Amino acid sequence: MSMDGRTCVITGSARGIGRGIAEYLGREGANVVVNYRSSEGSAHEAVDAIESAGGQAVPAQADVTDRDEVEHMREVCHEAFGPADVLVNNAGITADQQFTEMTREEWDRVMDVNLGGTFNCTQAFYDDIWEAEEGRLINISSVVGKQGNFGQANYAAAKSGMFGFTRTIALELAQGGSTANCVAPGFTMTDMLESVPDTVLERIISGIPLERLGEVEDVAAVVRFLASEESSYVTGEVIDVNGGMDL
Ligand SMILES: NC(=O)c1ccc[n+]([C@@H]2O[C@H](COP(=O)([O-])OP(=O)(O)OC[C@H]3O[C@@H](n4cnc5c(N)ncnc54)[C@H](OP(=O)(O)O)[C@@H]3O)[C@@H](O)[C@H]2O)c1
Repeated sequence: MSMDGRTCVITGSARGIGRGIAEYLGREGANVVVNYRSSEGSAHEAVDAIESAGGQAVPAQADVTDRDEVEHMREVCHEAFGPADVLVNNAGITADQQFTEMTREEWDRVMDVNLGGTFNCTQAFYDDIWEAEEGRLINISSVVGKQGNFGQANYAAAKSGMFGFTRTIALELAQGGSTANCVAPGFTMTDMLESVPDTVLERIISGIPLERLGEVEDVAAVVRFLASEESSYVTGEVIDVNGGMDL
């Protein structure tokens, strides 16, 4: 299996895209740290699913905005499996509002989780990734970071910010032989889309050349490639997984 023995930390992996990534990497033989903030039951279900498929996993509670909790997650990882080879910064939130109505609190909250969490976790696991054979940093951005989206100035800014962050860390990691890349999913079937009205979803789908929303496995398969040793000459890239939305 391509991920045999590689230790992967995936933030926000009790549900949604993170859960899809955790289960996919677990099935491929990775040791998985299933991070959650509030979804404890789902995190334990994810661990059980990975173990039932023959993999190894451990749950780790941490709010990615809290540096002490992130350090604790690192300790959980080290105790269970040793240093991480792969960090996937997946935890993310939205707080949508047309810009003229957007509060500073909504701006800060989205920045704090999407970008601040990425900063905290990357800094906590940086030495692990640097020292790993083929260490990997993978940041989950969004098509919205490239295209913008009505009512998502905060989220679009945070997700664009991940591009510059990733390219810079890619440069800094390169001397040690590790890589950093972004994955930018399009609209993907998870709880995050629950608040989007059906009429809006239909309009979105009509603009997607492949004529469907993404599935979590579509994103997970690309993350699996980036997390593996097979991607060793790919760094500083943004890989779109959006059904052709840019075409
Ligand atoms: N779904 C889409 O259409 C789409 C498209 C492009 C990009 N993305 C990106 O993909 C990532 C996953 O999205 P999703 O659709 O799977 O979202 P989701 O179903 O809403 O799940 C969000 C995940 O993030 C975690 N999370 C939120 N705040 C956190 C915090 N402070 N600390 C730790 N974990 C936190 C949640 O954990 P708890 O449940 O434990 O609180 C949950 O596991 C996000 O970065 C999102 O921006 C999603």
